Amino acid sequence: MKSIGICAALVGFGLFGAVVVSAESGKHAEEGKPVGANGVTMAAEDIVAARRAGYFLSTQAIGQIKAGIEEGGDLRRTRAGAMMLANWAKAIPTLFPEGTNLESSRALPTVWTDREGFEARAEAYRQAALKLAETAETGDKEASNAAFMAMAGTCHACHQSYREK
Ligand code: HEC
Repeated sequence: MKSIGICAALVGFGLFGAVVVSAESGKHAEEGKPVGANGVTMAAEDIVAARRAGYFLSTQAIGQIKAGIEEGGDLRRTRAGAMMLANWAKAIPTLFPEGTNLESSRALPTVWTDREGFEARAEAYRQAALKLAETAETGDKEASNAAFMAMAGTCHACHQSYREK
């Protein structure tokens, strides 16, 4: 009978804990509420999980980019990694719709209150990734390393204003 008790507790939590409010982090979105546009809806938690998975996967491309720049490395790997990140950068704003400011997310409320700034950061990242891809194509490792450092700076710049520390 224990499982019924747990079930009842979960239902109770669902009813009374539906609105997640945390004054400290400014989280206000409703857990479990579908969000979407153009007739496509998705659970808010799933969107948060997808973008967080994407960010962690994007760090794998960084490893590939660095390996290509290293002595003996092949800059074609750098170029391929940079192109992946440019495509990812383009998708970033679409993965932060209204209603996805959940507890499970490390995004700051500024993502939604300063949307223009956030999108400008994502575009700066995309441009820096494209520049890195272009530079890698020339075969110049030193210039590719500089372009890589510039791109890494765009990650940091966005995190400063739009991600919890
Ligand atoms: C346009 C803004 C922006 C840019 C550019 C950006 N990020 Fe982020 N990043 C975020 C936000 C916002 C989150 C939090 C997402 C969430 O939890 O919902 C995040 C989360 C992450 C996470 C998950 C970390 C954790 O512990 O929660 C990693 C890893 C990450 N970013 C790496 C990077 C790297 C590497 C780059 C550049 C190559 C980059 N990001 C560029 C905004 C950005």
